[in-house]
Amino acid sequence: MVVKRRADLREDLISDLLRAQERDSALDEDDIVVLVSILIGAVSETTNLGGLVQIRTLLEHPEQLKRVRDDRSLIPNAVNEIMRFAFGGPAGMQRFAVRDFELRGKTIRKGQMLILALGGANRDPAVFPNPDVLDIDRDTREMLVFGHGPHYCLGANLARQEMGCMLDAALDILTPGSRVRKDLMEFQPMGIFKRPLNLSIEIAS
Ligand code: HEM
Repeated sequence: MVVKRRADLREDLISDLLRAQERDSALDEDDIVVLVSILIGAVSETTNLGGLVQIRTLLEHPEQLKRVRDDRSLIPNAVNEIMRFAFGGPAGMQRFAVRDFELRGKTIRKGQMLILALGGANRDPAVFPNPDVLDIDRDTREMLVFGHGPHYCLGANLARQEMGCMLDAALDILTPGSRVRKDLMEFQPMGIFKRPLNLSIEIAS
């Protein structure tokens, strides 16, 4: 695709990266391939998994599911709360210290890597009372699923909309009493995570 676009620049991301390459020779063809591959994962895999997590989590919390089913205006905050509650595990974003500093009594040296566990932050009881409870009425403004600061997720609002649409559409087919068939679900190891390969649901008749 990069070779094709070089011969025929258009209004798209790969063409823009090729234009940038002309200005900055540090960016070579492999960099463009790697960047676009990472973006595909960051954009599509996350939202895809997020949609699955949304539906699964609500099916596992029937009272909350009933509230959303009865009042779909609750979907936007439910999407945020489900992401806070169920998305992301113990891993997190890598950061490297640019200087020595103290963090809760520990000295962090310049150059050391820190893993910022977004899942842990999302269950911080000082920020979210009763953090282990799924509560779709909760104030979710401090949730950190989309990161924080200068690298805050560029697609956060799009991802929220997409997951809300998925949930809305799923509610049309998930009749009351439908349940997750965890025994039929398949998982694939992904680092320290288990990535679900499917979402098996028994639709109640
Ligand atoms: C549920 C879906 C998503 C989740 C959980 C998510 C999560 C995140 C997180 C945590 C970061 C911060 C990374 C860091 O600080 O190192 C990030 C950055 C980013 N996300 Fe998302 N994301 C999602 C969907 C999307 C979508 C749909 C797009 C684009 C359409 C997108 C584009 C980006 C980009 C370009 C960055 C890098 C921003 C930067 O470094 O300045 N993401 N995302």
